[in-house]
Amino acid sequence: MSTVQTTTPSTATPEAPETPEAPGTPDAPDTLGMSAAQARSAVLEELILKDPGRFRVLTGDRPTGRLHLGHYFGTLHNRVRLQNLGVEMFVIIPDYQVLTDRDVADNLTEYVEELVLDYLAIGIDPARSTIFTHSAVPALNQLMLPFLSLVSVSELNRNPTVKDEIAHSRQSSVNGLMFTYPVHQAADILSCKANLVPVGQDQLPHLELTRTVARRFNDRYGDGTAVFPQPEALLSNAPLLLGTDGTKMSKSRGNAIALSADADATARLIRGAKTDAERHITYDPVARPEVSSLVLLAALCLDHSPLRVAEEIGSAGAAALKRTVTEAVNEYLAPIRARRAEYARDRAHLRKVLREGNERTRAVADATLAEVRAAMNSHY
Ligand code: TRP
Repeated sequence: MSTVQTTTPSTATPEAPETPEAPGTPDAPDTLGMSAAQARSAVLEELILKDPGRFRVLTGDRPTGRLHLGHYFGTLHNRVRLQNLGVEMFVIIPDYQVLTDRDVADNLTEYVEELVLDYLAIGIDPARSTIFTHSAVPALNQLMLPFLSLVSVSELNRNPTVKDEIAHSRQSSVNGLMFTYPVHQAADILSCKANLVPVGQDQLPHLELTRTVARRFNDRYGDGTAVFPQPEALLSNAPLLLGTDGTKMSKSRGNAIALSADADATARLIRGAKTDAERHITYDPVARPEVSSLVLLAALCLDHSPLRVAEEIGSAGAAALKRTVTEAVNEYLAPIRARRAEYARDRAHLRKVLREGNERTRAVADATLAEVRAAMNSHY
């Protein structure tokens, strides 16, 4: 961890253990980095409770569709928690990132507005948190250029998350934005000088790259002072929810329950969910992933333990489980859906939220770019 003081919220924490560098071997999943990140996240949680004001979070979601329960219990819920604890938050809608694996970003305006609606509905408060889009913040995008000079092509080449996305992409060739988007993501985070990034495991390599970019920039241009903080990963301990077909919940697979879905569509999706042949309901994510994911979903909505939910259903079987899940989800989402419908009636308000978020972020990113220019001696 850097001991250099920065002017923005700093994570320099003498009492905390150092976060070791991830080994970054190309093919082995980074399990050492993972457990270190978990341990560090527990320490960070305590620091947040003690002094939320020292943290600035940046996080976001690609505008490629509506947010669903996997997003909600995976990250969105946690964002609202952090915001309500008093952590300053920037939520990016990375519209350029949509172009990493498709030629044209379809329905972009609609998806962006739907994301803003989802955010407002779950409790992201634009008075306390800043929602913005990539394309509206020129200084953020300009940072990408010096940052690209700080990473090698082979480093980009061995990013496991990018490799995985390339492997699953339906594009016939890989475009340059796909290859370099982790650097773009470093610009997202560092343009706002965020020092905390709530992430799932797949985003850890990107955060590691962001830290590398920050460190190299400071070393190369900082002249003794750190321009950038070294942002840290806050790993969520949210258990993984599967889609209704038993695979990863994903907007493109038709197996996701959108926050915005109505109660009937929710019931239909859950009724069609995959289960197994064993009648007695138990919670056993390894041996019975589909049944356990349904149990977990009910448990999250009811705020009970999964074991209790499974026990209460017991020999009543999968149909009873599905009834419980449907009721729990619809009840949990009812106030969120009601707020969403309310906000959806006022498109002008939505656009204003985004316009003001973009303005606020431009001011922050402009100030960062001015520091970067000064550090790089670009005084003309
Ligand atoms: N890559 C992230 C995703 O696909 C989205 C994202 C873009 C992001 N920029 C970010 C997340 C910065 C955290 C911080 O989900």
